[in-house]
Amino acid sequence: MQLSRSDSERFLAEFHDANPGATSRAFANLPASMAGTAFASSYECLASVVPAGARTVLDLACGDGFLLALLAARRQAGLSLVGVDLSTGELAAARRRLGPAALLHQGLARELPLGDLAADVVLCHMALMLMDDVPQVLAEVRRVLTPGGVFSAVIGGGSASPAHQVFVSLLREYRKLPQFESLRLGDRRLQSPEGIADLFAEDFEPPAIDAIVLQWRCRPAALWSWFDKMYDMAWLDVADATLIERRFAQAVEPLCDAGGQLEHSVMLRRITARARPG
Ligand SMILES: C[S@@+](CC[C@H](N)C(=O)[O-])C[C@H]1O[C@@H](n2cnc3c(N)ncnc32)[C@H](O)[C@@H]1O
Repeated sequence: MQLSRSDSERFLAEFHDANPGATSRAFANLPASMAGTAFASSYECLASVVPAGARTVLDLACGDGFLLALLAARRQAGLSLVGVDLSTGELAAARRRLGPAALLHQGLARELPLGDLAADVVLCHMALMLMDDVPQVLAEVRRVLTPGGVFSAVIGGGSASPAHQVFVSLLREYRKLPQFESLRLGDRRLQSPEGIADLFAEDFEPPAIDAIVLQWRCRPAALWSWFDKMYDMAWLDVADATLIERRFAQAVEPLCDAGGQLEHSVMLRRITARARPG
């Protein structure tokens, strides 16, 4: 039986059908640092989990296929690539990017359109924290993993940057609107290491959690374009969005250096866990 989409899954499908590739455009060029090691991006942090001997890698919520393309570029002998996503628009972009290099399927993470033991590595970049019913998603990931297979997910972990605080405080009054109230994406337990351990306990060995820091400098207009792609902005009409943009530019002006640039940083977490045997 096929599950029907929830309200949040319908929202995400609609958003990504209209904005395919928004995530890779936002994250692919942001240098990342994890445990003292520099990576070209958070996608590279995740790709580094894939061992030389991997046979099948599934990218769960693959979006426009950026991560799969990184893996395809390795030309690793015997490696098959598979992607699953709920958005038609993202999958079309992924097909254009990847051609025959990966098998792509439309489906929901909580009901994966794959047989048992279909992959020895499952990756998921910036999507697990959006999903409904994470325990069921994790049970599905375990079902499709070979015994001892590895699941690794990069999830959002907030930001302590002053520019982020400005963005959050400007959005605060709009968050009381009914459309914001009615849709809360994801499982709050993914916001703490204890919650993550709790969620993974049923299907996985205790997870390793690595902090990833993205840090860059840019002009306020470029940072605004980055914030403007966030899901929160999709609920605002053009007039409100324009007003917030203007207020943002004014509020961050004192944070800029002599060259008119400001610093921004984002924290992510990489969770890596081995499927429990049996
Ligand atoms: C923030 S984007 C990340 C896309 C891609 N992983 C990347 O980082 O470029 C979230 C993706 O998850 C997909 N998605 C969200 N919830 C999903 C679900 N429950 N099942 C399958 N795909 C989902 C969306 O369609 C979207 O492509």
